[in-house]
This record gives sequence, C-alpha cells and structure tokens, in this order.
Amino acid sequence: MNKKKFIVFGKPSLDKEEIRAITEVLKSGWIGMGPKCEEFEKLFAEYVGAKYAVSVSSCTAALHLALLAAGVEPGDEVITTPLTFVATINAIEYCGAKPVLADIDPKSLNINPEFIRKAITKKTKAILPVHFGGLPCDMDSINAIAQEKGLAVIEDAAHAVGAEWRGVRIGGLKNSIACFSFYPNKNMTSIEGGMVTTDNAEIAEKIKIMRVHGMDNEAWKRYQGGKKLIHSEMVMPGFKYNLTDAQAAIGICQLKKLDKFQDKREEYAEIYDDYFSDVCDTQVGLSMDTDSAEFRIRHALHLYLILLKTEKMRKGREEILQEIRDEGIGATIHYLPVHMHRYYREKFGFKKGDFPVAEDAYQRMITLPLTPSMTLKDAKRVAETVKCIIVTNMK
Ligand SMILES: Cc1ncc(COP(=O)(O)O)c(C=O)c1O
Repeated sequence: MNKKKFIVFGKPSLDKEEIRAITEVLKSGWIGMGPKCEEFEKLFAEYVGAKYAVSVSSCTAALHLALLAAGVEPGDEVITTPLTFVATINAIEYCGAKPVLADIDPKSLNINPEFIRKAITKKTKAILPVHFGGLPCDMDSINAIAQEKGLAVIEDAAHAVGAEWRGVRIGGLKNSIACFSFYPNKNMTSIEGGMVTTDNAEIAEKIKIMRVHGMDNEAWKRYQGGKKLIHSEMVMPGFKYNLTDAQAAIGICQLKKLDKFQDKREEYAEIYDDYFSDVCDTQVGLSMDTDSAEFRIRHALHLYLILLKTEKMRKGREEILQEIRDEGIGATIHYLPVHMHRYYREKFGFKKGDFPVAEDAYQRMITLPLTPSMTLKDAKRVAETVKCIIVTNMK
C-alpha cells in the first residue's frame, strides 16, 4: 500500500486573506451581486487591459452570453476546436447554432487557422478559439480571417488568465470577446465564476442585461435607492447568470496573487520540461521554443500535458496513467475530443477519424498536476516518478 500523499490535480491556493474577505461580505448583510462584483470587474478589466469586464456565474455562462451578444442565432454556424471541454461546444448548442469543428495544430494543440478557413460557409457567424491549456491561439491569423469574412471572435479563455499574445494579455485583444473561468481548479478561482471582457460598450451592456433575467436594472441597484422604490423592466428574456459578492471577494484576493501563482507555475513547468523533453512531447516545450520570442507569448500553464511517444512504449496510455495514479499522483486527461461524445456523435454524425490530429493527441496525452498549491518537493516527486514510469515502460 502506497502511503505517500496523493497530489491532487488542480488544488486551489486559498488562505487567510480569502477567509477574511468572504467573512467580511457575509457580515456586511449584502451577499448577492453588488459592490464587490463591481470592484472585481474593475480590477479584472484593468488587469487584462480591456475597457469592460462583466462578471458572471461561470465561463459556460460567459460563452453563452458572449455568443448571443455577438448575434449568434439558430441556423448559424460557429467554428471551434475538437480539443476542448464540452462547455465550449455546449454554449454553441444553447444558442441553437451548429458547432463546426476545425482540427488542431499538432504542436500547440490549438485550433489550426488553415482548417478554420476551410470550415467557413455562408452560415458561419463566429469563430470560437480556445486557448488550450493556457497557450494563446494564433490570434493574428484568426483575427485576419474574421475580419476578411466579417465574423465575430469569441475567445474561450477558461485556461488563459494571465496569458499573453504579442505582449497583450488575453482578454485585452481588440475586436474579440474573451470568456474566463474561475472554477476551483483554474489559475485563479472565485469558487465558481466567470468573466467576459470586451472593448465594445454595446456588447458589455447586452451581457449585463442578459445575466440578470433581462432586467434593465440590477437588483442591488434597485435596493440602493433606500426608501425610494426603483422600478425595473424586463427588456428581453434573460438568464440567471450573475456572480455574487461572496464569490467576487475571493476572486479579488486571487487576482492580486495571480502573478505570484504564475511564477510558481513557470518554475515547476521548467522542471517538468527538463525531465520530459527527451522522452515525450510537451505542449509547453513544443510551443515555447519556437514561437514565443517572435510572438511574445506567455503561456498561462493552466495545464501541463505530456504526449507519450506511444509507438516507443510497451504499454498504452491508460495503463501508464493508472501506474502514475497508483503512485499517488493525480494525473488526468484533457480531453476526450468533443466530437467523440455520444450526444454530438448522434446529433451531428461526427465519428472517429474526423479530426485525426486531435484524436492522436488524445490517445497520447497525460495531464500532470501543476499548481502553485504544490511544493517544490511535490513538483520534483511528480517529475521523477512519472519519468521513471515512462522510462521503465519504453521498448
Ligand atoms: C476550455 C473550457 N471552457 C469552458 C469551461 C467552463 O468553465 P466553467 O466551469 O467556469 O463554466 C471550462 C471548464 O473547465 C474549460 O476547460
């Protein structure tokens, strides 16, 4: 029986500051959406360099509202990547639009702009790139295609808070809407939560209205009037997608620590790169040594994937992954490509072989724990143990 501590995948880094901040909100008497959400939005907009940030209950909600605000309607097509979490494609489905997939680039694991171009039809309304694992997509090519064809760009930046493309933080790029996640295992958390950033005042306003039932005045502003009753009118059938002040208080603390979190991620990723670059491929190693200088990329390192050279291994990925987990390391998989999920196979007729680059990556991938809540000793244990398992299983 292995007595070593289990290194959990994606354990958040929370301490007394978050406890103090949420306690203050609980004691304040206003725990729903209110001034803390506004403060969080202001700080987040400043951090990414966007004019507007609108807080919502999750990145899933952010994606849904961003697509609607961009005018996506039933019958439209939205192009996205097969290698993502189902939330990305589900958001397209919620709008009644058709998800169209464009395969990935084998080096970055991000959507390949050449395949986007091929996937465009008369019905295409938007492109939904996902900054997979925290590595920015090729936004120059994607924006150029979008401008040429008159398409909206909605970035799934669930993994990419703190990432940079050409020295600009993701969320601060012009002409797109970016959607962030603060789910517990993300680079920063608000327990659950999300944010939309944009430079477009009209889009920000639409999202603000849609996140609270489609009402033209948010509840906390109605109550702020004191004795004077402020009336509110519903202007469209909206949703209940708001964040709360209790969550925003945690988000504010985490945002302030984000740069320190990122430094730790980079320190541990360097150790992993040293250990793995001679025995397998890594998304970080492959992407950073080629494009990073020219494109001034900063990888948010939300995920650290190794891609096994399966042809050189005696065992398959599943067995190797199980051996790693048996050693107390919470390694996992990101993701089963979306076209291989039953619902999407049945609804759109997707089948195995449709997106071979994503499928090949899926068959070879293992995600290793990489969080600032780990100690240096934990990171070294992950690196040594996983390397040893790989080397002993090589032909
Ligand atoms: C790529 C991607 N998009 C969207 C989401 C949805 O985020 P949330 O859980 O905040 O709705 C996730 C969540 O893990 C994700 O990984």
